[in-house]
Amino acid sequence: MENSRLCCFAILVLMSFCVHQLNCGDATAAKADVGVILDLDTTLGKMYRTCISMAIEDRNANHNHNHTTMIVPHFRDSRGDVVAAASADLLHNTRVMAILGPQKSIQADFVIDIGDRERVPVISPATSPALPLKETPYFIRSAWCSSSQAKAIAAIVKAFGWKEVVLVYENSIYGSGLLPYLTVNLLQSNVVISNLSFIPPYAKDDQVLQELFNLKEMQTKVLIVHMPLDIASRFFQMAKEVGMMTEGYAWLISDPLTSLLSSVDSVTTEAMQGVLGVKALVPRSEEVRRFTKRWSKRFHEENPNIDRAELNVFGLWAYDSTSALAEAIERVGFPSQRVNRGNSALASVLRNFTYKGLSCDFNITNGQLQSSAFEIVNVIGKGDNTVGFWTEKYGISKELKFNGDKPIYSTEKESLRGILWPGQTSNVPKGWEIPTSGKKLRVGVPIKGLGFNEFVNVTWNQETNAVEASGFCIDVFKEVIGTMPCDVEYIPFPTTDGQSTEYYDDLVYQIYLDKYDIVVGDVTILANRSKYVDFASPYIESGVATVVPIKDVERKNAWIFMEPLTRGLWLTIGAFFIFIGCVVWVLEHRVNKHFQGPPRKQIGMIFWFSFSTLVYAHMEKVKSNLSRFVVFVWVFVVLVMTMSYTANLASMLTIQQLKSTYMIKKGEYVGFQTGSLVAIFSNSIIFGDYNIRSYSSFEEYDEALSKGTRNGGVAAIVDEIPYLRLFLSKYHHKYTMIDQKYIRTSGFGFAFRKGSPLVSDFSTAILKLKEDGKIDMIARRWLGPEGHHYGDGLESLDLDHFRGLFLIVGVSTSTALAIFFSTFLYQNQQILASSGSIKEKLHDLGRAFFAMEKDDASKHSETGGEIVLAQSPSIKTSCDEKGMHSQDERLSTIQTETHEEEFNTIDADVEAPIHYAERV
Ligand SMILES: *[C@@H]1O[C@H](CO)[C@@H](O)[C@H](O)[C@H]1NC(C)=O
Ligand SMILES: *[C@@H]1O[C@H](CO)[C@@H](O)[C@H](O)[C@H]1NC(C)=O
Ligand SMILES: *[C@@H]1O[C@H](CO)[C@@H](O)[C@H](O)[C@H]1NC(C)=O
Ligand SMILES: *[C@@H]1O[C@H](CO)[C@@H](O)[C@H](O)[C@H]1NC(C)=O
Ligand SMILES: *[C@@H]1O[C@H](CO)[C@@H](O)[C@H](O)[C@H]1NC(C)=O
Ligand SMILES: *[C@@H]1O[C@H](CO)[C@@H](O)[C@H](O)[C@H]1NC(C)=O
Repeated sequence: MENSRLCCFAILVLMSFCVHQLNCGDATAAKADVGVILDLDTTLGKMYRTCISMAIEDRNANHNHNHTTMIVPHFRDSRGDVVAAASADLLHNTRVMAILGPQKSIQADFVIDIGDRERVPVISPATSPALPLKETPYFIRSAWCSSSQAKAIAAIVKAFGWKEVVLVYENSIYGSGLLPYLTVNLLQSNVVISNLSFIPPYAKDDQVLQELFNLKEMQTKVLIVHMPLDIASRFFQMAKEVGMMTEGYAWLISDPLTSLLSSVDSVTTEAMQGVLGVKALVPRSEEVRRFTKRWSKRFHEENPNIDRAELNVFGLWAYDSTSALAEAIERVGFPSQRVNRGNSALASVLRNFTYKGLSCDFNITNGQLQSSAFEIVNVIGKGDNTVGFWTEKYGISKELKFNGDKPIYSTEKESLRGILWPGQTSNVPKGWEIPTSGKKLRVGVPIKGLGFNEFVNVTWNQETNAVEASGFCIDVFKEVIGTMPCDVEYIPFPTTDGQSTEYYDDLVYQIYLDKYDIVVGDVTILANRSKYVDFASPYIESGVATVVPIKDVERKNAWIFMEPLTRGLWLTIGAFFIFIGCVVWVLEHRVNKHFQGPPRKQIGMIFWFSFSTLVYAHMEKVKSNLSRFVVFVWVFVVLVMTMSYTANLASMLTIQQLKSTYMIKKGEYVGFQTGSLVAIFSNSIIFGDYNIRSYSSFEEYDEALSKGTRNGGVAAIVDEIPYLRLFLSKYHHKYTMIDQKYIRTSGFGFAFRKGSPLVSDFSTAILKLKEDGKIDMIARRWLGPEGHHYGDGLESLDLDHFRGLFLIVGVSTSTALAIFFSTFLYQNQQILASSGSIKEKLHDLGRAFFAMEKDDASKHSETGGEIVLAQSPSIKTSCDEKGMHSQDERLSTIQTETHEEEFNTIDADVEAPIHYAERV
């Protein structure tokens, strides 16, 4: 310690002119000369001086630390053009170690340059991002770069939904530096800077006034002002005079202007009522409060003639940067550094320096003071009122501290407290205005050919240049624009080579060329076109559909009767019919004469019986209870199915449904509108199978469709739905739109310049008109009713619809069969119990199966073949009375007794008795 002090002393003596030894408290400290360049003309400059002085004094008075160095400030006034002289003096004569200031970006640019050459750190609060921070290692920015507020400004603009802003800035390194950052951040929120207004430094009043008149002419009413205080205060006073501080305008000011608001005079404050501002957050700590109090006292002692001045965050930074500089000098071990005058060590320490200062964390990283939160203020009454905050993490918020988690980045205007806008209103300015008086909205309209005039009908007298426009699109447009206060002027777009798709592309492109403000017409919203313009919401839906003659549709549907049921269901039903026929045969053939006879006849009977149930025409009475049960269930199922079939067929027979199954054959001709959108798609795969012809009026459509492909016409017309709707309203008795939606498009829409604020207003108005049904009304008036539209196709009935029914049939027949076979086996148990081989048993069972029933003794024969149908109770009675007879006896009795009856009981079946008689 002693050695080093001695050593220091030796050197200090050698270089005696600027390093002294003096007493500081009870410790000795070396003196470090530091130059301070300030604009002492300005309140801010005076504020800096007081803060820097206080920082040095506070440090020297602090006896808790034994500092080895102490800063000796050398103040120079930079007013006017003397920055060069001042810095040269400081560097060469005073030979300072570092320079604090200057405060203006223009001056800083110059001093940084010298500092870099002389290798002396320059610690300046200049905010312009245009200053070469990276390239000059001796420059340390002791204020937040003004680019750090770009995001906050963009967030505010977004919060209020403004789409366009005008940037007013000082045309200097100070003003223009912010421009690229603001542009980028605004664009990220889909906001465009619609125009720039630059005010030269030291602008004369009439220059400012001229610029204000230009600004007043613009449609955009959101103005972002980035200027130094002196010009800004004149600017706002004049803006108030020309009537731009009124309702409808939104003004946004940036830092450092906002931070300095507390020091502006009352006339300026009065002019700036309603202005929103963004400023670096001043930490509200007890330390700051105490310091502010001390500072105020000292400042007013030093500057008794300044009545209105409040400490702002720039003052705090000046205090902190002075302390930081002293700390850094202490850290690098000042004397040895001073010897070689190479202050690179000091500069590099300062360029990455964190320090707990008045303004919370005084964090310089890479030569740049790091920004944190911004405060959003609203000028009301005598000063600025905080209405919210902006932080990188949370966006806009009412409070700086959050109790719970607030994980999302908010850009909602609800996150701000109540704002009083210019004109003493709380209504949020819309941000733009349709040019009134004098300026008319230029509306581009297409000139349509002969046909399709119901959409746009423009008559243009080229001599008088009088334009008349009518039609569906124009009416919708008038309805929308009626809600807005502005004059319109229709400008027809002359067609060169008749109508083509390119004509509409070109028409839309005129907006891009700034020939029109809006294009109104049957302009389809297409991706291609959206590249150059913005579209409002479509006012009529569209898509491409096909129209065909009704008679073609009907002819093509000869097989419609098959449609109600799916093929699977048809097959299943068929199978069930046969199955039921077989079951009934199994159950009946032993007791029912009708189910007997030669195999050919039996098979015929199976089919006949079963299918005749379909129309309830089965005349053969079934005898067995089991088969009655089966037939009953089956007839019920058939009933249900027939009714479902009838219902479905009836609905399918309407024209709607015929259409859904209609297909145009490959190789046929298809027509479309000359120059319509469809032409674009005509080469696509959809049309690959067809030949195409183009027409330019509905009369031609009609003619071509009537002729048909073979006679040089077309089989179908493909066009956009609105046109087809109009066509069908005229020819609905002959044609119909079939259910072929090739392409869906958004519909027709009004086109605007990209980013035009009119888009959202028009979209809202159109949606409202749609919801009110007004557009529908206009459409009905011009395009006819919407009736001839397609509905959703009915589905064919399929197996699933009848699963339950088939289950019932299946269960009941199985039950019946099971009962039948168990009875049968029970009756024939003697065969099973006999001693024959299995083959013989099966043979016997087969014989028994095909034989007539045995036990109803009086009526049945065992030999098979003959059937007895005895319905009459008299026969039954006679059988019972006679009891058991021999087989032959029984047979003869039955034969004789029933013979007469047959003709009465089985009236339809003439064959049976004859056959029976033969047998006898
Ligand atoms: C001040 O210096 C003395 C001796 O020079 C030393 O003992 C003391 O710790 C120092 N105090 C501080 C706060 O550094
Ligand atoms: C921007 O403002 C200037 C001056 O008022 C004007 O001439 C120019 O047309 C404007 N540009 C745009 C794109 O509005
Ligand atoms: C200083 O700022 C840098 C960059 O924002 C950050 O990485 C670093 O942690 C900060 N240091 C302190 C001490 O806050
Ligand atoms: C400051 O620190 C960062 C990393 O924290 C480093 O990349 C940079 O080079 C340092 N700058 C200087 C001037 O030392
Ligand atoms: C188009 O306008 C002219 C005159 O403005 C009128 O004579 C004609 O009938 C209109 N056409 C249609 C289809 O409305
Ligand atoms: C739209 O796209 C077609 C080809 O897909 C192209 O020929 C035409 O020029 C485009 N129109 C515009 C306005 O870019």
